[in-house]
Amino acid sequence: MSEGVSLLGSMYAAVRALQIYPPGNDAVLGAIAECDELAKAVCTAEGGLSIWTAGHHLYVNDLRIRLDLSDYATVAAFRELIETHGIGRITVDPGVRSEDWTVFLGLLAPARTEETDAPARLLEIQEQLAQAEVTHITLAPPLPLFETGEAESSAARRTYAVSVNALKDLMSNPVMGAAIAGRRAERTVLGIVDQVLADKMSMLGMLTLRDYDDHTYVHSVNVAILSVALGEFVGFDHQQLFELGFAALFHDIGKVFIANNLLNKKGWLNDEEWRQMAQHPDFGFLMLFNVSGFPEPPYRAMIAVYEHHMKVDLSGYPRVIRRRRQGLFAKIIAIVESYDAAISEFNKEFVPASPHDVIRQLRQAEEGTYDPVLVKAFINLMGLYPVGTLVILDTGELAVVVSRSTEPDALGFPIVRLISDPTGKRLGDGPIVDLMHPDPRPGAPQRSIARSADPRRYGIKVSDFVA
Ligand SMILES: [Fe+2]
Ligand SMILES: [Fe+2]
Repeated sequence: MSEGVSLLGSMYAAVRALQIYPPGNDAVLGAIAECDELAKAVCTAEGGLSIWTAGHHLYVNDLRIRLDLSDYATVAAFRELIETHGIGRITVDPGVRSEDWTVFLGLLAPARTEETDAPARLLEIQEQLAQAEVTHITLAPPLPLFETGEAESSAARRTYAVSVNALKDLMSNPVMGAAIAGRRAERTVLGIVDQVLADKMSMLGMLTLRDYDDHTYVHSVNVAILSVALGEFVGFDHQQLFELGFAALFHDIGKVFIANNLLNKKGWLNDEEWRQMAQHPDFGFLMLFNVSGFPEPPYRAMIAVYEHHMKVDLSGYPRVIRRRRQGLFAKIIAIVESYDAAISEFNKEFVPASPHDVIRQLRQAEEGTYDPVLVKAFINLMGLYPVGTLVILDTGELAVVVSRSTEPDALGFPIVRLISDPTGKRLGDGPIVDLMHPDPRPGAPQRSIARSADPRRYGIKVSDFVA
């Protein structure tokens, strides 16, 4: 998207001009006008605009800006510039005015060095934007998931970052009746489907990247990944995977109408709070009536969104009077979404369960909650020790599961990465061992899993070894 590069170029030019000239100067006005025009063009074409960083990369909406030699200096300089101001994400809505650009870009003009406190600087800028009543440009810090700064992230990581970001945009317009940008949604879902089909284990590994600040978006992307993986496992074709992925990605979109303090509440909900929370499937259903760019509303997804908390025996919500059957998509989403919720750190107080324990709980769930055939399929897909589980081997070594076994029946014998020796000494990036196929040489260790363990007790971040 050369428009994206041009936009970044004009933003950077405007900042440079503002470093030298007062805001009324022709060079400044010209750069601001260009910037305003390009931003509006992108907003109209894509239903919104966000410029964001992931590691060393810069994205405009879903597209990573490819650096030609001619643009390299500008784009790299722009990325560094916003980074020194603590900005990881600039969201622009279609109502943006040229005055907004002048104020915002003016705030980026003072030279800064990287050592100064970037998060504090971001707060300062946000305050100044609020004072100047700039509401069409909003800023956020870098996504904590992706601040690792690797030069080249894996394809799975890239798809994951793009999806979380897209969902953030797609879910950030909480006006009933506002259209959801269908094209962008479609692109996001296809990205997930294709990446799951290309490399399922890497995508499942992304689930170890936990982030409670963006919980709803991360959860939605995780549920889409898991649903598509399970859909493929039970034999869905590409079109069905797309529809399922779409439903899964938006299963909780109705939550945009639930107050944040309720969504983030720690502990139990009272009756009234519960009643409000339980409305999100109805809201989601209604919202999906209004997806732009599709010839007709995504009916199958709408039904799945409506039914995802219904349970197979209909004892969940929304309550239904007439006898019906929970649909296949909703049954899949119900299983994978409770899996993701249980392993996630959605707030600082909640203790996430080990993936292994959650698999066990799913197996023992009360009859009528989940479809037992699909639960079985899900366990076959994930194995008893899903990717990201920290395990203690019978040799005393610690290991992290990096992949399900390649053998269909070897549910309890995944492929692991060793991370400590039997005395507990850390190995860093230790060797990968297939527990189903031990080293055949005489005297080589025969390893099996003794039990799963809580990574926080050992001070281990499993994502370091998986994602
Ligand atoms: Fe939900
Ligand atoms: Fe959910």
